[in-house]
Amino acid sequence: RYLRGVLSLDDFEAHARRTLPRPLFGYIAGASETNASLRNNAASFQRYGFQPRILTDVSGRTQRTSLLGVEYAAPFGIAPMGISALMAYRGDMVLARAAEAAGIPMVMSGSSLIRLEEVAAAAPSSWFQAYLPGEPDRIDALVDRVIAAGFQTLVLTVDTAILANRENNIRAGFSTPLRPSLSLAWQGLSHPRWTIGTFLRTLALHGVPHFENSYATRGAPIVARSVMRDFGKRDHLNWSHLERIRKRWPGKLAVKGIIRADDAVAAVLRGVDGIVVSNHGGRQLDGTIAPLDALPAVADAVAGRAAVMLDGGVRRGTDVLKALALGAGFVFVGRPFLYAAAAFGVSGIERALSILKEEIHRDMALLGINDLSELDASFLSNRVCGSA
Ligand code: FNR
Repeated sequence: RYLRGVLSLDDFEAHARRTLPRPLFGYIAGASETNASLRNNAASFQRYGFQPRILTDVSGRTQRTSLLGVEYAAPFGIAPMGISALMAYRGDMVLARAAEAAGIPMVMSGSSLIRLEEVAAAAPSSWFQAYLPGEPDRIDALVDRVIAAGFQTLVLTVDTAILANRENNIRAGFSTPLRPSLSLAWQGLSHPRWTIGTFLRTLALHGVPHFENSYATRGAPIVARSVMRDFGKRDHLNWSHLERIRKRWPGKLAVKGIIRADDAVAAVLRGVDGIVVSNHGGRQLDGTIAPLDALPAVADAVAGRAAVMLDGGVRRGTDVLKALALGAGFVFVGRPFLYAAAAFGVSGIERALSILKEEIHRDMALLGINDLSELDASFLSNRVCGSA
């Protein structure tokens, strides 16, 4: 019913705001400290304008894209988002299944509340994202577990030596462990759709959510253990840990959270297959430049030796095409898909996927291309286009 009024990815946010208790909505929407990077990620796309080509017969256009040896139905996927199953009933599962059905990749978060084996079985083309454990034997155990589950692609998030200052979570009333309080109880009562449809349904059918996949909190119920623990003893991580994983992991390996061209090259030299240019949706070092602004130098430096992907602020077909024109081979979208899942479950995700796909299809025609590989910097101008 309400879905009819959802015409763009940004429209899901207001619905999620109404559906979710304030602390949970705040956890998704927020970023770190001043939110400068969060705002700038979105604004970065407005700093480029298109120079469309005309009269090129665009009747044969296709957005099929191959990435890391797989052909996908569209040039975008779903970014990894932790504790999705607290936001939407069986969050990771519904996101993964909808992505699988649509022929695009969904990256399952290591900070998830559903066992990675379950997601791999239900949606075999999903990718797995890990936060590197600090100790070598735990690295090996995690990699072996991801191999055994059958994942083909492993994404290591490398912008999280420690967790950023998430003061905005505290402002919004969000913490792990979740502490029972009067205001939390009021939030539950005033958001019955989430309380009944997600929270109580999860408790009744699956029990108290546990962190199932991260190494330090594995098996810990969300009400008992802080996610922060995961980030306690790992600030010593360095390139040798990446080398260790590269030796052990036989599948495709991507690193997520690269901004600098020299880091991208260092990763390529250690044999990674893909690089995700990302500032974690503005949730790590506040003030980190936008991935879109970092992209051209990274793509230049990588020079085809690995797949270059991007996430952060992608909300429109036009944003996807701008990223591809600046050197990305693929993009990921985070928050809107979780908002869609939280507000509308699987039909929301399906709607979000088809909105973005249709926008790309339409924008390709208006831009004058049949195939995404035609995109290059000649289609863009850095004359400012759009409102500030
Ligand atoms: C994230 N992100 C993230 N990244 C990661 O590597 N592991 C994780 O567990 C999480 N968890 C997470 C939770 C939530 C609620 C959000 C919003 C984000 C970052 C995510 O993968 C991605 O980099 C950004 O969200 C992309 O930016 P947009 O599309 O949300 O603007």
